[in-house]
Amino acid sequence: MAFLKKIKQLIKPFVPPILTGKLPYYKLKGDILDIFNINIFEYENKSFNRIAFINYAINRYEFEKCKYLEIGVLHKEVFDSIPLLELNKYGVDPVMGGNFKMTSDEFFQNIEKDLKFDVVFIDGLHTYKQCQNDVLNSLNFLNEDGVIFIHDLLPRNHLEGHSKKQATTFWHGEIWKVAVEINDHPDLLLKIANIDKGVGIVKKKKQYSSYKKNDDLKSKSFDDFINIYKNQLDIVDSYKAFEFIKKTPN
Ligand SMILES: C[S@@+](CC[C@H](N)C(=O)[O-])C[C@H]1O[C@@H](n2cnc3c(N)ncnc32)[C@H](O)[C@@H]1O
Repeated sequence: MAFLKKIKQLIKPFVPPILTGKLPYYKLKGDILDIFNINIFEYENKSFNRIAFINYAINRYEFEKCKYLEIGVLHKEVFDSIPLLELNKYGVDPVMGGNFKMTSDEFFQNIEKDLKFDVVFIDGLHTYKQCQNDVLNSLNFLNEDGVIFIHDLLPRNHLEGHSKKQATTFWHGEIWKVAVEINDHPDLLLKIANIDKGVGIVKKKKQYSSYKKNDDLKSKSFDDFINIYKNQLDIVDSYKAFEFIKKTPN
């Protein structure tokens, strides 16, 4: 028996764990998911994040008058960095962090119809449909020379860009589809800073009247994003993004 035990010990390192039945399920799942977790591209390696771009935009407006809306607030990392009067800061989150504890849809249904924001940051639920609603509503409540930021527009791998949240990774979801719609709209301008998961910057031209949905995008996947749609988007470095924020739209 001792001899057999010794033999077993000797060959153990050469037997794949899956054959011994000893590979824990979570490890196996993790390894399989890793295959889908290979980044197709990398973000720019400068020391800026979404907060830098949003604050740069805020500084273009008058301190007493500028109105800021954040959809999806969580730990207030961005919200508390906004240098404006408390009464002009609107943070919407049904779970935590905001001063309006409700969904963004409820918020837009209940606010005064003539309220206008100068800077909006959209970072709520990352489904295509919800992000589309958030952009559409924000555009309707945006001042003429206002600017909208959208976080997480550039998923780098299948898990980040999955239609449903995977527990193992950051989740961008399919909100890149909204970027495609904005980009195709003749009266909207969009640039995406290739940093901090992709920071979208949206401005509207004076003649903008309504949002255009593209139902064909519903069935598109992360592979379509990488092979087709990513190439159509205006993805820029941080300095170009700052320049775009500074410029007023046509
Ligand atoms: C990624 S976190 C926001 C992070 C924050 N903006 C930041 O930059 O640090 C997303 C937040 O969106 C909130 N959320 C989820 N569904 C929402 C909805 N329908 N309307 C508004 N917020 C929502 C979640 O509760 C969560 O706190």
